[in-house]
Amino acid sequence: MRAAANAADVAEGRFVQGVCVKVLPSAAAAERHVAALFAEQLRRKPDSVLGLATGGTPVGVYRALVAAHRAGEADLGRARTFNLDEYAGLAPDHPQSYAAYMRQHLFDHVNLPPERTHLPDGGVADAAVACRLYDALYRHYGPADLQLLGIGLNGHIGFNEPGFAPAPGGTHVVRLDESTRQANARFFGAGETVPEYALTMSAGRIMQARSIVLLATGAAKAAIVARALEGPIGTDCPASLLQLHPDATVVLDREAAGELAPERG
Ligand code: F6R
Repeated sequence: MRAAANAADVAEGRFVQGVCVKVLPSAAAAERHVAALFAEQLRRKPDSVLGLATGGTPVGVYRALVAAHRAGEADLGRARTFNLDEYAGLAPDHPQSYAAYMRQHLFDHVNLPPERTHLPDGGVADAAVACRLYDALYRHYGPADLQLLGIGLNGHIGFNEPGFAPAPGGTHVVRLDESTRQANARFFGAGETVPEYALTMSAGRIMQARSIVLLATGAAKAAIVARALEGPIGTDCPASLLQLHPDATVVLDREAAGELAPERG
């Protein structure tokens, strides 16, 4: 497998409404490019705080980051990580929890000390308490130097669904949109139900990250990517808030970039 930092994957960025947009020829190239950004961040600042995401999109990023680690190009020994979200009711040892996902795709394969990996605890009976604890930890160690995001088909970031209300507490409990539960049903087995609630970092907390990189791949994301980047800024498309961030990059494959207005000039 090719390591993450490969010159062939370096993409020129163009700016769309203040956001740097990089279009790579394939999903694999986009994933490697994002992994290379993380490897570069770790080289620049070995004790970086990394903001991590789950779902289908980042799997290839983590694969490439593990490859980079094995090739000696990414040392996570001094890093600290914070994940965006977790399902309410799923304890960290539950196979569908995001904690299990992170162990499977990244944590078990790199030299990141387990005590420096953080996710909201979905197993705590009072989810609001778990949110407060998580937020206190993030306020202590954060903000993230580099935050990875995916984008929901409805424009959500973390689990901040369209129309979200400001969350002064930072990390909070949300009811998942029916469309999100349907989209995520693919990760659950027959007879298992997708939890109705999740613990998520607020959009405000996400926006505190020093740099943000949002990755979207595949044609299914093309319409929402165009809405987020070219449409008005508003809570009906949470990802549109990236237009307000001073250092946001959106990495796309050609399909996900398919509905962006053609480059002018
Ligand atoms: C996951 C997360 C979500 C996902 C989004 C896209 O931690 O915060 O916002 O990034 O639902 O998911 P995929 O990548 O499965 O399309």
